[in-house]
Amino acid sequence: MSTEVSERVADTPAAIQASPAAAVSDADLLPPPRHIAIIMDGNGRWARERGLPRIKGHEQGAASVRAVTEGCAELGVGYLTVFAFSTENWKRPKEETDALMGLLEQFIGQELPGLMKNRIRLRAIGRTHDLPPNCRKALQDAIDATAQNDRMTLILALSYSGRSELIDAVRALCREALRGELNPDDIDTARISSALDTRDFPDPDLLIRTSGEMRLSNFLLWQLSYTEIYVTEKLWPDFGKDDLRDAIAAFHKRERRFGGI
Ligand code: FPP
Repeated sequence: MSTEVSERVADTPAAIQASPAAAVSDADLLPPPRHIAIIMDGNGRWARERGLPRIKGHEQGAASVRAVTEGCAELGVGYLTVFAFSTENWKRPKEETDALMGLLEQFIGQELPGLMKNRIRLRAIGRTHDLPPNCRKALQDAIDATAQNDRMTLILALSYSGRSELIDAVRALCREALRGELNPDDIDTARISSALDTRDFPDPDLLIRTSGEMRLSNFLLWQLSYTEIYVTEKLWPDFGKDDLRDAIAAFHKRERRFGGI
């Protein structure tokens, strides 16, 4: 860990560094977090370290999504949300956004049999209408095909940002109020939660961020209010099932008070 990162860790009590898992991890013994959210960072660095094009890092990152999804299902996690493409990612060179969209379409097609076999439901959050038509179709087909699966829900955040989600929710609530169907005084936490893309899912218990950065990067800003944050130096393409167990073991050591004492 660099000195700069160590200092940032010391300044950020909610974020802790990864520690090696014990032989039998708490992840095996205690109930898993109900919902895990992941900021999958470091694909570009992983590729650069190997002298490879960035897309190779994303491809390897897609393999990590597969492994971690499987790991979550095996451990009994109910919901897994992965930040696959942010609204800000559209600013990347077209070559990279095209490649990411192609990879996404391919990933969905390849994963569908496994999602069905493992009874995993696929859902998406974000401005998915921004995605290219082929991608949107592959996504919608997989969402429809997996709708009845009941073991775990995999949520892809695509063209997503917490602020754009909140903007869309505020607009929807204002429209309801203008139609006379909503009294602004009735707007409370539950009403806002039910206007968000995540309305069908519980808030995440654990947020994992790879590659050592201590930022939320506009991810699930409302939903992460009481979420435990776990940051590991590992780059996303190197993150696997054992790292998932380490993160869950660290989560079990936290004391969650939700603002109480
Ligand atoms: C961050 O790495 C990662 C992304 C912008 C996209 C995440 C995408 C994947 C894991 C692969 C595709 C996902 C699916 C679901 C098929 P970065 O490029 O910002 O890395 P860097 O910070 O090292 O440059």
